[in-house]
Amino acid sequence: MPKPIRDGNGPRHVAIIMDGNGRWATQRGRPRLFGHHAGAKRVREIVQACPDVGVKYLTIFAFSTENWKRTQTEVAGLMSLFRRYIQKEARALHAENVQVRFIGDRVKLDRKLITLMDELEALTSGCTGVNLTIAINYGGRDEVARATKRLAQDVAAGKLCPEDVNEETLPKYLDTCVLPDPDLVIRTSGEARISNFLLWQSAYAEYEFVDTLWPDFSAEEFSSLIGGYGLRERRYGGVKA
Ligand code: FPP
Repeated sequence: MPKPIRDGNGPRHVAIIMDGNGRWATQRGRPRLFGHHAGAKRVREIVQACPDVGVKYLTIFAFSTENWKRTQTEVAGLMSLFRRYIQKEARALHAENVQVRFIGDRVKLDRKLITLMDELEALTSGCTGVNLTIAINYGGRDEVARATKRLAQDVAAGKLCPEDVNEETLPKYLDTCVLPDPDLVIRTSGEARISNFLLWQSAYAEYEFVDTLWPDFSAEEFSSLIGGYGLRERRYGGVKA
């Protein structure tokens, strides 16, 4: 039975930049893909921890629009890992009531992976527990550019007036249109950058940059970051009440 989602002061939507797989593998004298496989195992643990800490939406950065610059071996290995992950985890995610979505541009992905992504989204579309969003071939600027193109097409077709283009209408064209904005963005591995992740959506997010490499990131550390968030005062540009 899935555990109940708790209400509270914690973040409802957490986004994670899962960094450090390559270094983790190198430290062990192993190929980078070994680190990605270890990283994939962590995803399950963190998804399972979400209900306990009151996180309803989890968005994870699995592959960026810039990651194609990596070696052909690493890119192919990551794509194969994504296919295997979906095939292996689909049943468990559904049983755990997790609704899975994918964001990013699918055009460059292989047909088999796209089919698996579509099937997993369909399988879990009725799930009401944690919302897991996996970003594959995702870039914040690319997302805004694709959204703008669709918005412009709607304007050209007379479906939208230019006067109605504003902060409320534009996000309806983003990949994340059905999701709330992230409250907390976590990046592992000691790098303090956002690397083109959820640029529009994270305008008012809190950030946590932790030194832990992603394959070592535990449910305990996740829970402690969520606890720390509850102590922060968010003002959204206003002043203290
Ligand atoms: C960044 O670490 C990580 C990635 C580019 C891939 C993220 C993928 C996973 C965590 C595994 C699979 C995920 C799913 C959803 C199945 P890096 O390789 O840049 O590490 P480095 O900075 O130490 O080189």
